Amino acid sequence: MGMLPIWILFIMCLICSSLQFNPVDNYLIDCGSSKNTSIGTRVFMADNSSLVTLLTLQTLFVNTTSKPISSTTDLALYQTARVFGGISNYTFPIKKQGGHFIRLYFYPFNHESRNLSTARFSVSAQSFTLLRDFQPPRVPVVKEYVLNITSDSLVLNFIPYKDSFAFLNALEVISIPDGLIPDSAKTFNPSGEQNNLWKHALEKVARVNMGKLVVNPENDSLWRHWDSDFSYLKHGNLVRFVDNITSVNYTGFPTKDIAPASVYGTATKLDTDSDPNTFTNMTWSFDVDPGFSYFVRFHFCDIVSLEPKNMFFNVYIYSLSVVRDLDLSKQTSNMLRSPYYIDFISRSRNNRNLSISIGPSEAYNAYPNGILNGIEIMKISDSQGNLDLGETREQSSTSNSIIKSWMILGSAIVVTFVAVVLALVFFMIWRRRKLAHLNNSTQDKFGNKGRKSTDGTVTISSSNFGYSFPLAVIKEATENFNDALIIGIGGFGKVYKGVLRDETKVAVKRGVPESQQGFAEFETEIEMLSQFRHRHLVSLIGYCDEQNEMIIIYEYMDNGTLKNHLYGSDLPKLNWRQRLEICIGSAKGLHYLHTGSTKAIIHRDVKSANILLDENLMAKVADFGLSKNGPEMDHTHVSTAVKGSFGYLDPEYLIRQQLTEKSDVYSFGVVMLEILSGRAVIDPSQPRETVNLVEWAGKWLSQGKLEKLVDPYLAEEIKPESLENYGEIAEKCLAERGVDRPTMGEILWKLECALQLQGISVRPRLNNQPSNSHFEDSVLSMQYSVGSDIDGVSMSKVFSDMVKTEMR
Ligand SMILES: *[C@@H]1O[C@H](CO)[C@@H](O)[C@H](O)[C@H]1NC(C)=O
Ligand SMILES: *[C@@H]1O[C@H](CO)[C@@H](O)[C@H](O)[C@H]1NC(C)=O
Repeated sequence: MGMLPIWILFIMCLICSSLQFNPVDNYLIDCGSSKNTSIGTRVFMADNSSLVTLLTLQTLFVNTTSKPISSTTDLALYQTARVFGGISNYTFPIKKQGGHFIRLYFYPFNHESRNLSTARFSVSAQSFTLLRDFQPPRVPVVKEYVLNITSDSLVLNFIPYKDSFAFLNALEVISIPDGLIPDSAKTFNPSGEQNNLWKHALEKVARVNMGKLVVNPENDSLWRHWDSDFSYLKHGNLVRFVDNITSVNYTGFPTKDIAPASVYGTATKLDTDSDPNTFTNMTWSFDVDPGFSYFVRFHFCDIVSLEPKNMFFNVYIYSLSVVRDLDLSKQTSNMLRSPYYIDFISRSRNNRNLSISIGPSEAYNAYPNGILNGIEIMKISDSQGNLDLGETREQSSTSNSIIKSWMILGSAIVVTFVAVVLALVFFMIWRRRKLAHLNNSTQDKFGNKGRKSTDGTVTISSSNFGYSFPLAVIKEATENFNDALIIGIGGFGKVYKGVLRDETKVAVKRGVPESQQGFAEFETEIEMLSQFRHRHLVSLIGYCDEQNEMIIIYEYMDNGTLKNHLYGSDLPKLNWRQRLEICIGSAKGLHYLHTGSTKAIIHRDVKSANILLDENLMAKVADFGLSKNGPEMDHTHVSTAVKGSFGYLDPEYLIRQQLTEKSDVYSFGVVMLEILSGRAVIDPSQPRETVNLVEWAGKWLSQGKLEKLVDPYLAEEIKPESLENYGEIAEKCLAERGVDRPTMGEILWKLECALQLQGISVRPRLNNQPSNSHFEDSVLSMQYSVGSDIDGVSMSKVFSDMVKTEMR
């Protein structure tokens, strides 16, 4: 019995000694992959790990079936990618402060939706710029960095260049052993010491194993890849490649983590054995960016000598002597086959080539000799934290082509300018004629009801369809745009509360003049609103374009925006039933937009701030400035530019820039989360992982932990069946791909079910106002046919037909 513990100890020791370095922080992600990928003994996680958070405007997963041409073994990691259409970041909690490897894998394969080789982007980590305006080469590459992380998280940012995008195939963030990278190293010419290396970021430029042997990550305790030195070597006929891997004798420090036996056990040496008069250097040359300092590590191990005191040589960087008469035996206490390394920092120079030479020593009358086992070269970030200066340097060196491209650009600008002016003139003429016609037709069709008189003092009833209003009437209604009456300020301009002479309350949106953008949206909104009348769409009362004004008059909504009722205000909280009814109401509005006429209308800016509530808290969808006709207009590419509101944007739309109704469905899903949680879509006051509502909610949704999302105010009241039903709809709305999202019609049906499941135990409170029985009947009914909610549609149909005739 007494022997047993010793046996166990012995076995444990065996296991321990065979174990690789075990990094405290160890994030391996196969980006864009929905399953884990094993590479050797390591597992790259599917790209949905709950350990890291990803804050991103939108992302897309893509994969390829074609195999990249590469000799590396980790091909599996290049089969999928995550595409970032906007500024995005990964955040990694850091358990152990100190040095970390960051490895980024890129392979720009061609995907049906995106040719990844057109990507161009920057990557930053903490305060360092790792890549600037980077266009990955068409072969698999792994970029490796060393960062000393002194906070408890690492934030990795991806920033697409202008209209481009970023992507990533895989990534690693792993702790490195203490002491792997020193804080200071020797400099040369002049010789000295440079400190504070840990304040910089490092980028691997070259990691080379002498002796013509490639070492794959699986054979390195820190999963480093070591290149063969052969392609860097000059005058290969004066050297010999030697190996004796098993003989390497680790005696404490350096350890296997500094470099594995396959590095120390193979070497390139001067070929002097046959002829002692071969008095020459062996040299390797590496491409580097001029203007940066480099950290250079030489690995030595005398695997050839039969006895000590036989290996003396000189070491050069940039043809400058850095060590003269290096006696390897002395450095390893006369232990042969013991590893040894030296570090240097090469200060910034203007060379594009960093050369390393080993040459025979003339001291001690030694036999001419020289050996090198490995070399590592790392770029040191500059004082601004850059590891990449992007194109700035290339521009200065290719000034000729720059001038040429400026000339081309110049003529392009002139041509564009002329075209724009012509288009503008044409547009103004067209618009005048159209609006004039609008006025005439309105008057013709509806007689004098909505007609303006020359003095502009005619009272206009809200019940008619007199769309064009005299400016004087609007001024009167808003007390000459009295600031005290402002009820909202948006990108378009200010919104005033107004009262017409017949006591009708109106909302008056006054656009900022001189904004072309604004004018296009103004036109769109009038056109859309005049076409559609629906109890769940905010109605148009009129507009005014006198004196270059861009004014739209809507029905007034007593209870303002849904957003204000959910958070950030002192308004009384809505109960679950009210929230469901609002949800259903806005879904009805959108369903009508999508299906109410022959071509679908896509709202494009669905958000809680664009859902208004009337005195009975009935929801109406507002703000049609960005709306677009469906598929028909897709081909024109007039405005494929991505518009909408941050946090609500459909990721698929951002990437493909193809607009479908399903983009509205996505945004509606975000609104559903807002309604459930009572929190903002982007809430900077939250801890980083929970800033983005969709990210945060997505995590709980996927784990089925819906209760985590529920606004504490609702916790008591909400029935689990109703919640489950609601959560399922929201999750479906937020599906990555549009085709997987339900239609508004399907959503409506499910929402009605959620309302039914909640039951009628909770009576509608409707802000403690006497309830409107007609309203209640309509929300309790299970049917939601488009026709039932249309109000005055036949009139507006006639009207919109006239608009369309005129537009041809
Ligand atoms: C690398 O590892 C594999 C398997 O672990 C082994 O068969 C191979 O000999 C190793 N190569 C070197 C150069 O150590
Ligand atoms: C090796 O290179 C250095 C630097 O260029 C030079 O000074 C030295 O003479 C060379 N040695 C031989 C043997 O060529």
